[in-house]
Amino acid sequence: MSSVKEQLDKEKLPSHVAIIMDGNGRWAKKRGNARVFGHRNGVKAVREVTEAAAELGVKFLTLYAFSTENWNRPKNEIDALMSLLVSTIASETKTLMDNNVMLKSIGCKETLPKSVQEKLASCKEQTKNNDGLTLVLALSYSSRWEIIEGVKKIALEIKNNNLEPSDINSEVFGQYLETANMPDPELLIRTSGEFRISNFLLWQIAYSELYFSDVLWPDFRKEHFFEALLDYQGRERRFGKISDQVKK
Ligand code: IPE
Ligand code: IPE
Ligand code: MG
Repeated sequence: MSSVKEQLDKEKLPSHVAIIMDGNGRWAKKRGNARVFGHRNGVKAVREVTEAAAELGVKFLTLYAFSTENWNRPKNEIDALMSLLVSTIASETKTLMDNNVMLKSIGCKETLPKSVQEKLASCKEQTKNNDGLTLVLALSYSSRWEIIEGVKKIALEIKNNNLEPSDINSEVFGQYLETANMPDPELLIRTSGEFRISNFLLWQIAYSELYFSDVLWPDFRKEHFFEALLDYQGRERRFGKISDQVKK
């Protein structure tokens, strides 16, 4: 029996995979621990999927790490998550270098603590010449925030006579989003058995294939990632056409 990885068609890999990493709190609770214990144990899963994506040659991996709405969690959990971010970015920079990974982020950076902003900036700087996978962390991110910010920028361009309303189309609009110059994700994965999008990449997932896994994020491993890709490769992406038109 060949491994799931070996069954993957290397010619049909998505260029961009996005993941809603969910279930840390429930993972910890099942073990009688505080929620932050789950967040800490989620770091290994982040490393695993980053390595797996890099190994395969996926170009972009976007991880939803902290949403705009997550600012409404109890202060102690937010504080723990922010310090975990600082320590993780520092400790994982080596993994990124070893795997030729460039770090990027999307979201409202200004709302993050200075310590997170600084670590993020320094890791981005260190990894900026890596040309394998681009790892995109969604931090203090939500799609409605991103879209509103994009609309504000466009409105300003029009006000300053740099853009005509008739110039706006999907391509142009996409350039005003945080994900400018990134391909849309072909595949979106959510762990922990929840079936919702939670304000993630609403514009960009217009035609993404969705994959829901029951696995709680701290238990997510390379093998689960490969399973998701194999499932994706079995899908027929029709983009509004009929099956006969897209079959080769
Ligand atoms: C995902 O796990 C991580 C973040 C949202 C930061 P959760 O913390 O949402 O875990 P559950 O959903 O409560 O189990
Ligand atoms: C979505 O997870 C945000 C992240 C994974 C960072 P949540 O656990 O916050 O989502 P909801 O609120 O349950 O939909
Ligand atoms: Mg959750």
